[in-house]
Amino acid sequence: MKVLILPDAGAAADRTADLLSAQLRAMPSSVLGLATGGTMEAVYARLVRLHREEGLSFARASSFNLDEYVGLPPDHPCSYWHYMRQQLFDHVDIDLANAHLPQGDAADPEAEAIRYEAAISDAGQIDLQLLGLGLNGHIGFNEPTSSLNSATRIKTLTRSTRDANARFFTRPEDVPQYAITMGIGTILRAAEVVLLAYGAAKAGVVAQMIEGPVTASCPASVLQMHQKATVVIDESAASQLRLRDYYELVHPAGGEAGL
Ligand code: F6R
Repeated sequence: MKVLILPDAGAAADRTADLLSAQLRAMPSSVLGLATGGTMEAVYARLVRLHREEGLSFARASSFNLDEYVGLPPDHPCSYWHYMRQQLFDHVDIDLANAHLPQGDAADPEAEAIRYEAAISDAGQIDLQLLGLGLNGHIGFNEPTSSLNSATRIKTLTRSTRDANARFFTRPEDVPQYAITMGIGTILRAAEVVLLAYGAAKAGVVAQMIEGPVTASCPASVLQMHQKATVVIDESAASQLRLRDYYELVHPAGGEAGL
């Protein structure tokens, strides 16, 4: 696992956007795995800037988002489809026909989850999967005790996740109880994963993810088993890491290893 420690949240988001843009420039037809949430807003803002100012193109790329709330139609202002259009899709040249999210308002959500998993397999492989980190260690909406080999399915959201996401809804009780999420097994099949987290509130869970045991109690810890996982964090989120000096030695200022 590569651990890149950047001075602040803005620098960490920029570094993440730059990893994604390097992937797109190297392979314009990349299959991208995308995430939503507050953490990703700055990443998408930078990607939009890179598109406008430096010609970064999504025209040949396709994307699969991690998750969507069950029950929300795509045009609902709190749906992740709406989020993606607002934050990224409407501002770059991606072909919307190639931008995929689970359909939250599908008549049969379980069948929709199976269809989505099959669509990812049919695309070959996700070349680069972007991830945020839940305060309880979730990735996607794989809450603690999720099977470490799970496929896309419906998960019941924990109280902690619903509380954390209440800020995006008018009333806390409007946060859906269920989501369709890529499984942990689905995420692990991506050729490369990049997880971004920042802020002191996530310092404890960041330490569990990187230095704790691999356990379904902290689903993100499974990234220790991935062959190409990069964790991008800021100094606040790094504050509880026991081996912080070592990560900074290997990747000074969050840069590449100087061999
Ligand atoms: C979003 C997702 C979640 C978030 C996580 C962190 O698609 O899958 O795992 O990445 O809940 O959310 P924020 O960034 O709002 O702290």
